[in-house]
Amino acid sequence: MSNLETTYLGLKLKNPLVAASSGLTGSVEKIIELEKEGIGAVVLKSIFEEQINGEVSSMLNKETQNTGYPEAEDYIKGYLRDNSVKKHIELIEDAKKAVNIPIIASINCVSGDEWTAFSKDFEEAGADAIELNIFYIPTSRHEKPGVVEQLYIDVLKKVKMQVSIPVAVKFGVYHSNIIGMAEKLKANGASGIVMFNRFYEPDINVDTLEMTSSEVFSSPSDIRRSLRWVGLVSSNVTQLDIAASTGIHDGNAVLKQLLAGAQVTQLCSTFYLNGIKVIPEMLDGISNFMKKWNFKKLDDFRGRLSYKNLPDPMLYERSQFMKYFSNRE
Ligand SMILES: Cc1cc2nc3c(=O)[nH]c(=O)nc-3n(C[C@H](O)[C@H](O)[C@H](O)COP(=O)(O)O)c2cc1C
Repeated sequence: MSNLETTYLGLKLKNPLVAASSGLTGSVEKIIELEKEGIGAVVLKSIFEEQINGEVSSMLNKETQNTGYPEAEDYIKGYLRDNSVKKHIELIEDAKKAVNIPIIASINCVSGDEWTAFSKDFEEAGADAIELNIFYIPTSRHEKPGVVEQLYIDVLKKVKMQVSIPVAVKFGVYHSNIIGMAEKLKANGASGIVMFNRFYEPDINVDTLEMTSSEVFSSPSDIRRSLRWVGLVSSNVTQLDIAASTGIHDGNAVLKQLLAGAQVTQLCSTFYLNGIKVIPEMLDGISNFMKKWNFKKLDDFRGRLSYKNLPDPMLYERSQFMKYFSNRE
């Protein structure tokens, strides 16, 4: 077996395969299984800002909880019943006891409100790092791109004020200047970025005239969404770890992202579609590739096909559009 060790967010990983946040990382039993198959690290299933805030507001309003809106109270009580924060803390503590791989807590959030104080609890529970999945949908025509970007920075800064463990930001592909965004996140304390989140996306059923959900799982061709940006960001922003995410279903996809400059890869849909037995297959694929090319470690080829290392970096750019699309009839 080749040496697949890597660092990510300053943590030591035995290989660059990270289980992305999902239902498959929401219980200790499943995390143990992932470790057995050889995963390098795990990002826990996210706790939502709204869940944390539900508990914050119920604590703040303990005596004055009678809002006059029974439904709102039921809603808050529901959150209290779930006791999400406590459960999340227990998950971190139990996972840390049960496995030896790094455990990254995950928060799905959209603001820098009171909830950010709870990130300290996740650190104290033993999380090795925190991943912020920031999911904001601008729906107003008056909103300026800079304001949206600033929101991401503000959330990060608030969390960084609470914790000393590394923080990564997971964001979507829809930003006007992704390289600039990555640079700003680094400047404001991010140790890494996850490119990209695959947001819930709506679909429309024309038979029933209803809104539905589009496919939740990615397909291998979705790797195209992030490969270019991994190559561009890794070339332009130094000292910021990139976790490539979306559409990475096999060992070759991992290799592509490493060649483009990713530090690690995050995997989710492939586990749902192919089972977690793909982990050893992927590791074998990476090892075989390294043997074939006589690479001793990941750094021997990481970033070799990134934007800055290509003899013709235009391959990442606009000109390719003309080459590949203009002759199609
Ligand atoms: C069933 C399911 C549940 C998910 N839950 C979360 C979550 O709790 N937090 C999060 O940040 N991402 C979540 N994701 C997104 C994944 O972590 C990942 O970013 C996305 O699926 C793209 O990777 P993939 O192409 O390997 O699936 C979920 C995805 C799926 C399919």
